[in-house]
Amino acid sequence: MSLELKPQFDLTAFNALGLRSVAEFYIAITESDQIPQLIRCAAEQNLPVLWLGGGSNLVLGKSVPGIVAQLKLPGVELLETTTDSALLRVGAGEVWHYFVRWTLEQGYHGLENLALIPGSVGASPVQNIGAYGVEVCELIECVDAYDSLSQQWLSFAAEDCQFGYRDSLFKRNPGRFVITRVTFRLNREYHPKLSYAPLAQRFDHQTEIDALEVFEAVCQIRTSKLPDPSTLGNAGSFFKNPVVNQAQFEALHSQYPDIPNYPADSGRKLAAGWLIEQVGLRGYTDGRVGVHRLQALVLVNYGGASRCDLEALAERVKAQVLQKFGVQLEQEPIAYP
Ligand code: EPU
Repeated sequence: MSLELKPQFDLTAFNALGLRSVAEFYIAITESDQIPQLIRCAAEQNLPVLWLGGGSNLVLGKSVPGIVAQLKLPGVELLETTTDSALLRVGAGEVWHYFVRWTLEQGYHGLENLALIPGSVGASPVQNIGAYGVEVCELIECVDAYDSLSQQWLSFAAEDCQFGYRDSLFKRNPGRFVITRVTFRLNREYHPKLSYAPLAQRFDHQTEIDALEVFEAVCQIRTSKLPDPSTLGNAGSFFKNPVVNQAQFEALHSQYPDIPNYPADSGRKLAAGWLIEQVGLRGYTDGRVGVHRLQALVLVNYGGASRCDLEALAERVKAQVLQKFGVQLEQEPIAYP
């Protein structure tokens, strides 16, 4: 099988932030056999490889040295159905939102709260995508990947993926594991998850709740406050919601009684969007970049911005939040190179 590397490839349309970026080489991976072959070829030529999914959670530099390999492995296989569940093995290159919609049309439940998250199926375990009270790790059975270090095909059971809030083994070892397939165990019976306040309010007086209705409600909530990357460059939440210890939380809470907060493993989780809004930066614009006017957690590219423009804005946001609240924000999308 030949590897067709395209030189000087424009990645502007291949990253959701729409940052101007050019790859030294680009290749679309459509068969898993190409992966070890590409790793050997890159090693021979001493070129780094960036494995790209939908480009939804990346902050790219102006030029990307080496090879950008986009995973386009297709396919959805039904491995098993029981009275309770269905086991589905899905190619990394499938588009997340279309896959979610398809599962619901088949009567397989569990992913409805994760509607409209941009990106590919293969990227979903990397940052353990989560929204509206559900994290994808709750529905994952295993993740198949090629380990570029040991040069072996591996299958990780969910409990071995080190899933955490916006975190996983794959995120902690950037570039090492190339995810090729994700296997999901979905429920045949529907158990609504409506803990997120706007969903709870929407379905408050309803007794019969259909998963497709929840899917539609999630789509509505998202489109009402999150910009569509195809019209306004963005990578969703640009910062993680910070977790502070109990003492720090109590000090903040006594000063700001309205501060949104949620339980977390080691203290309380705060809403970064609220903190950014409180320092007056919601809707702030600095040249070609800005803080989204409806959701301050999202930084946007109005067109033609570079990573430097965005990073300068991110630094300003972090500095102001640190100064007012003593809370350090952590960037969520991965910077490369
Ligand atoms: N808030 C503000 N101002 C803002 C934004 C938010 O005051 O500009 C307040 C809201 O009023 C609310 C709280 O902050 O009280 C939380 O806001 P929201 O429900 O919009 O959720 P979030 O914590 O800002 C997280 C995820 C989103 C996910 C939503 C819904 C992270 C980093 N972000 O945002 O994920 O869709 O919850 O579950 O955890 C993403 O990762 O790209 C993403 C969009």
